[in-house]
Amino acid sequence: MPRIDPIAEVKEDHGKVRDLLLDIMSAIKRRDVTKAFELLLILDKLGGPHFRFEEEVMYPAMKRFYGEDYYLRLLEEHDRVIRAAKQLAETLGKGSITEEESERLIKLIQNEILPHPITCSGLEILMEKLSPEELEKIAESIEAGREAEVPLLEWADTIRARKA
Ligand SMILES: [Fe+2]
Repeated sequence: MPRIDPIAEVKEDHGKVRDLLLDIMSAIKRRDVTKAFELLLILDKLGGPHFRFEEEVMYPAMKRFYGEDYYLRLLEEHDRVIRAAKQLAETLGKGSITEEESERLIKLIQNEILPHPITCSGLEILMEKLSPEELEKIAESIEAGREAEVPLLEWADTIRARKA
């Protein structure tokens, strides 16, 4: 029986993602690759369980509000985040970056990753319209995802049926 408030948890996750992304961009601007990579690993750990409960329970539960097309758009947005996170990991994994790479990575975050917490946090207003039973299911899936602890890129390559 979950004791967590799923709306508060989702909101908190999005706040954490926002802070991590802003900090990663500052580190990249300073070309502090070690720091940026360290923060990316934290984001990877947080993002796996987050995307998982969204895709497995939360997004389908709210389909009746936004319909099939917007639902697919949300999944596409996740695809973009996954692809961008892979590129970030690859580039930062080299250990150092050029000025040009730093600019490219910042644009990548701004255009491909940051839009997720912006739009997804907006979905909290729809979560408020779900039934207590549906919210309960989301709460359970949040807890299950956190317990499973599968990071984002690993989940995307193994468990996630849809390929980015
Ligand atoms: Fe989200």
